Amino acid sequence: MYQVIARKYRPQSFSELIGQEHVQKTLTNAIQNQRIAHGYIFSGQRGTGKTTVARIVARCLNCIQGPTARPCGVCSSCVEISAGNSVDVIEIDAASNRGINEMREIRENVRYRPARDRYKIFIVDEAHQITKEAFNALLKTLEEPPEWVVFILCTTEAYEIPNTIASRCQHFSFRSVDFDEIVNRMKMISTEEGIEADEETLSVLAQAGEGSVRDSLSALDQAIACCGKVLRVDDIRALLGMFGTESLRAVAEAVHKQDGGRMLEIVQELERNGQSLQHFSRELSRYWRNLLVAKIAKKPSRLIPASDREQQDLLETASWFSEEDLTRYLNLTLDLYKTLQSSLQPRLHLELGLIKLVQAGKLQSIEEALAGLENSEPAQPAPARPVAAKPPDEHLTASTRVAAPRPPAFQAPPKSAPPAPPAPAGSGDLRQLLYDALIKAGSNFTADAVQHSEISLQGSDLVVRAPKAMLFSLKDASMQRAASEVLGKPVRVRVEAGENVSTAPVGAPVIAPGTNAAPDAGLRERALSHPGVKRFQELFEDAQVRTVRNLNE
Ligand SMILES: Nc1ncnc2c1ncn2[C@@H]1O[C@H](COP(=O)(O)OP(=O)(O)O)[C@@H](O)[C@H]1O
Ligand SMILES: [Mg+2]
Ligand SMILES: [Zn+2]
Repeated sequence: MYQVIARKYRPQSFSELIGQEHVQKTLTNAIQNQRIAHGYIFSGQRGTGKTTVARIVARCLNCIQGPTARPCGVCSSCVEISAGNSVDVIEIDAASNRGINEMREIRENVRYRPARDRYKIFIVDEAHQITKEAFNALLKTLEEPPEWVVFILCTTEAYEIPNTIASRCQHFSFRSVDFDEIVNRMKMISTEEGIEADEETLSVLAQAGEGSVRDSLSALDQAIACCGKVLRVDDIRALLGMFGTESLRAVAEAVHKQDGGRMLEIVQELERNGQSLQHFSRELSRYWRNLLVAKIAKKPSRLIPASDREQQDLLETASWFSEEDLTRYLNLTLDLYKTLQSSLQPRLHLELGLIKLVQAGKLQSIEEALAGLENSEPAQPAPARPVAAKPPDEHLTASTRVAAPRPPAFQAPPKSAPPAPPAPAGSGDLRQLLYDALIKAGSNFTADAVQHSEISLQGSDLVVRAPKAMLFSLKDASMQRAASEVLGKPVRVRVEAGENVSTAPVGAPVIAPGTNAAPDAGLRERALSHPGVKRFQELFEDAQVRTVRNLNE
């Protein structure tokens, strides 16, 4: 009978285990020193060795040569434990035996000495599934355990084990296993099985497991079932629905080259190949994450699950961007992934999301701008990408950013709307986008009202403050639609009357609410003639000086 690889290659002793060094070491010492606890909790991600180690411990304790950290592997205890049919090692799946009756049964059973071996060992899988009452029954046993009893509770959800139980157990957390170690183990296994697979193929399979050895080995099984003894990386990628780094790299390249058109092509290709767009956005998030790690580490890192060649690629690609850029792209892509999970129009949202990446690439950080300000003489032209003041955008809160200049002024609206009055500073870009969307939708009145509003994002709400007379137009359904479209996700529009909403023409000083209505004129003049301020005004053409405040006051 065919046995799945994960089971066939279940480690039989500590030396075969990969990762989990801390668990190995502590348990080995405990066994050598005969300091065996009555209760253990093994917690951690699935497929990282909890059940495996529980069985190894059982062998260590019950091997005829034991207790020993190196069980013989050939005595009947060792053999039976591996096969899972030792009378004194009782495995319970708490997912199906979680009730009080089962626990009472265990409590009864515990009172009798082991049938043959030294210890009676209960391995409880999915222990978090045990009910509260059943845990209470178990607690009684753990409070006064007979000397021959050992409980090993395995769980992926350690926090669900009641404190009363946990405090009577030794706790080991199993970590997800390092990528390299999984690849090496798979190399060993495929040699053993006569499977031909190069490093890259194995690395793709290992990635599929996300740190779970079992999942990686299952992927290997699946690959063999599908492709036979010779595994080729392209087939495996297709099988697992993984994206070649090429399509991910193409996105990075398009961001780098500011090529929105290319983004649309990429989406088109994905759709044509019948690939899941949602899955793509997830892979893309991982890709930005890996680029960010590569950028920070500056060399191949074990924090990145990728082959050496891929690591080199990542380092090269990462060099196109700043750490800050990559953080931003990662953030945007994570948002995109979230949106796509519930989107009825995934293609549209993916397109929008990728275009947003291109736009985000046009931003220049305020740090860069300031650096330019310090180094260059005032008369020099602005650095490579001139900039204008940009309102904080929800994605950009982590760092202050300024945007490339927009076209000089709003285009005159096509129909009845009067030339757009300039906006109060601070909500420009978002408002412009909303305005454009509304004009496109033919909602001219609402568009006009938007021009007179102050717009901000507060949490997931879009808050629109406008003069009273315009509130009516803003409560229009088209506003809701435009807002969701512009932000690429459903948002709630909150319309508020704002008395201070300014529609002052460009250039007129606007006094921020709460400040002195007429700041000391001399102060303002001095501030405006300060070289730093002047330089800023050169850099940010549309910037207005709103308030001048004497910091010494
Ligand atoms: N740390 C590990 N070292 C080597 N193989 C492992 C490890 N963890 C899991 N495996 C492989 O995955 C399979 C399932 O592991 P298991 O111990 O049942 O995981 P779980 O943590 O879910 O209990 C094992 O049979 C083995 O092949
Ligand atoms: Mg298990
Ligand atoms: Zn033995």
